[in-house]
Amino acid sequence: MQEDIDIKENYIKQLDEELLSILLKDRSSGKNIIWATDTYKSRGDGYNFFDKMTVKAITGRYGLVIKPRVEKSKKEQNVRVKDKAEVFTPSWICNKQNNLIDMAWFGRDNVFNTEKEKTWQVVGDKISFPEGKTWQDYVTKNRLEISCGEAPYLVSRYDAVTGQWLDLNKRIGLLDRKLRIINENTFSESEWYEWAVKAFKSIYGFEWQGDSLLIARENLLFTFIDYYVDRFGNFPIKEYLQEISKIISWNIFQMDGLKYVIPESCESVSKTQDSTTDKSSKQEASVCSHKKIYVKVMNWDKRKSELFIDQIRRKSDDR
Ligand SMILES: C[S@@+](CC[C@H](N)C(=O)[O-])C[C@H]1O[C@@H](n2cnc3c(N)ncnc32)[C@H](O)[C@@H]1O
Repeated sequence: MQEDIDIKENYIKQLDEELLSILLKDRSSGKNIIWATDTYKSRGDGYNFFDKMTVKAITGRYGLVIKPRVEKSKKEQNVRVKDKAEVFTPSWICNKQNNLIDMAWFGRDNVFNTEKEKTWQVVGDKISFPEGKTWQDYVTKNRLEISCGEAPYLVSRYDAVTGQWLDLNKRIGLLDRKLRIINENTFSESEWYEWAVKAFKSIYGFEWQGDSLLIARENLLFTFIDYYVDRFGNFPIKEYLQEISKIISWNIFQMDGLKYVIPESCESVSKTQDSTTDKSSKQEASVCSHKKIYVKVMNWDKRKSELFIDQIRRKSDDR
């Protein structure tokens, strides 16, 4: 386990060749996620906006290409603010907002911690559940971070603004909280893992830019490793890492959150069609059609993927 906020792609590759390929998968297109930013294009072929991110482009001598925002140059940070409003949230604010969610769910405040100015004091006692709600309900409740960047509301290995490392017992992410609850309520390794899988299946996020999305996915995977090592004192087996990575590659996805499509896949393309007015001459007319790729998400209960836009439509019909 590394306590470096920048998870090195070469290190992941060394752990298991398969892991990075899984973390780069785009489940909507069946291919890989794309860069979806111009900030790498000076590197040449393979680093343009629509190019797919590959293991080769981010490992070996390119192993330092992907860096968290806090370690990017000031110039690059400014470009990204202008281009995609990339301003990250410090941990103490993520904590405050996550506390509000838990206050609504538990019906009481200070469940996981007590806020103190720009920090917090962790509640050490085992967490109790309100009448009619169980710890299993808490672990399986779905949560989504919209426009997640490096996913600081979901997991909190470091403060996304200052880069400060956060020890396991100080973590405040929505997934961190579920893993704490699992630690407090399970006994055997197999039971712990079974519930950890359920927790990962309940945590969603989407992001436009491919590099941040990959970092978010890595942050979730390494959160799993952190908690596993802390609980069992040894490194999780490859099968676990692959299963968790597969879940993450479905649940933390690349999407334009305004259109529910893969970024910039909604362009007009020309298509030729037989003319219906003059069948004899079979004239061809040019018409516009859209090749947008709507984003798919996994419904883990039904074990079936669905379009994200359909879920939004269903939710608005319910209102
Ligand atoms: C203000 S940052 C917030 C990131 C993270 N949630 C946080 O609080 O630190 C906004 C993020 O939204 C992403 N973004 C911008 N426009 C988007 C869009 N149309 N769809 C999805 N993500 C978008 C940016 O790439 C950036 O990472």
